[in-house]
Amino acid sequence: MLTSPPEVPPPITRQYPTKVIVNLEAHEQTSRLADGVDYTFWTFGGTVPGSFIRVRQGDVVEFHLANHPSSRNPHNIDLHAVTGPGGGASASLVIPGQTATFTFEALNPGLYVYHCATSPVGMHIANGMYGLILVEPKGGLPAVDREYYVQQGEFYTRGDFGVTGHQPFDMQRAIDEDPAYVVFNGSAGALMGEKALTAEVGETVRLFVGNGGPNLVSSFHVIGEIFDRVYTEGGTKSINENVQTTLIPAGGAAIVEFKLETTGNYILVDHSIFRAFNKGAIGTLTVGGTPDSGVYSGRQYEGIYQPEGGAMQRMPTSDSPAPAAARNRAEQITMGERVYAQNCAACHQPAGTGLAGAFPPLAASDYLNADVKRAIGVVLHGLSGPVTVNGAQYNSLMPALALGDEDVANVLTYVYSQWGNNGTRVTPDQVKTVRAAGGRRVNMDAH
Ligand code: CU
Repeated sequence: MLTSPPEVPPPITRQYPTKVIVNLEAHEQTSRLADGVDYTFWTFGGTVPGSFIRVRQGDVVEFHLANHPSSRNPHNIDLHAVTGPGGGASASLVIPGQTATFTFEALNPGLYVYHCATSPVGMHIANGMYGLILVEPKGGLPAVDREYYVQQGEFYTRGDFGVTGHQPFDMQRAIDEDPAYVVFNGSAGALMGEKALTAEVGETVRLFVGNGGPNLVSSFHVIGEIFDRVYTEGGTKSINENVQTTLIPAGGAAIVEFKLETTGNYILVDHSIFRAFNKGAIGTLTVGGTPDSGVYSGRQYEGIYQPEGGAMQRMPTSDSPAPAAARNRAEQITMGERVYAQNCAACHQPAGTGLAGAFPPLAASDYLNADVKRAIGVVLHGLSGPVTVNGAQYNSLMPALALGDEDVANVLTYVYSQWGNNGTRVTPDQVKTVRAAGGRRVNMDAH
């Protein structure tokens, strides 16, 4: 039985070795790499990473690799669990429309990476041809409540992160080890939102974490959790305990286990942290159940702290080229949604609900709908001091965002089009006019 990420086949319960037949298909396909970004992935089994394979130590694996007739390239497979030259690579080389078979004995238990090893090897891996095979030790792994499959990998696209459209592979970037994307499970956001991993308080979770590379070493970390146990490098003897961050080499793996003591969102990252927040290496484990306030209180007090007199903070100005201009309101809304996700959703929340006592709602907001020029000013210059929104008072600091006129117009047009707001369209010219009127922040303290 094979599974697609993030699912893992069930534990093996049999107490004896057997012959296992694995059928895997190489398939080239175009799909989403990030919002608005497509990529032509080369896959094992139609997903990146490829299907998860689970066998037992001593099993004899009869491996059938097929290459779909629609492929444009030959492929093969090198499984790090194989003892034998090439890990199966030359025995499994198949042109489009061909299938090949080889057999190996799974001598060594552990968690192993597999990948395509067809020339140019780096390009086949960079396009998504990697996955994991678990060889369970005799007697199996200790029982846990949930198991998940996560594999990191980089993508080397012609355009930088977020540049929309179909993006071709860029060989020079790959040689320079300068990826535009570093992601878990094949795309930015593959483990976010509705696709987040889930668990309940009191459960123990086991993550099978691989790193397909092709180049980068992962500093794998879960924000807000401590790994109770790490099977370092996917081996069976070197079990480390109480680990914050574990290194996963390119072409390597680790098994991490932790018990969940309280509720919330726990964030999977590569702690080489710009990869997480700027290149996509971020995912979520959502834990439900009953919170334990003794383990973690949540925020117990908050107040304003302004040691420098409340001067507005400025986000650094981006030196990336201005995005293509939207041609109509619908395009503004599409582009604005992306600006919102990157700059606004963390505080005002993905559905504009805000956070009680901290960040005002943007949904059905009387403050927003009453005055579009004021709204433009807030986005351009920030906001400090008390404001009343839908009858509730808020007193927090919003930084000036240093967005271009197009982005400001698009994000406001998006917000006005959503959640019961009045549908106002904001144009870049309107933003330019407000900007030209002066760089005063909106400061409710002033009167
Ligand atoms: Cu290949």
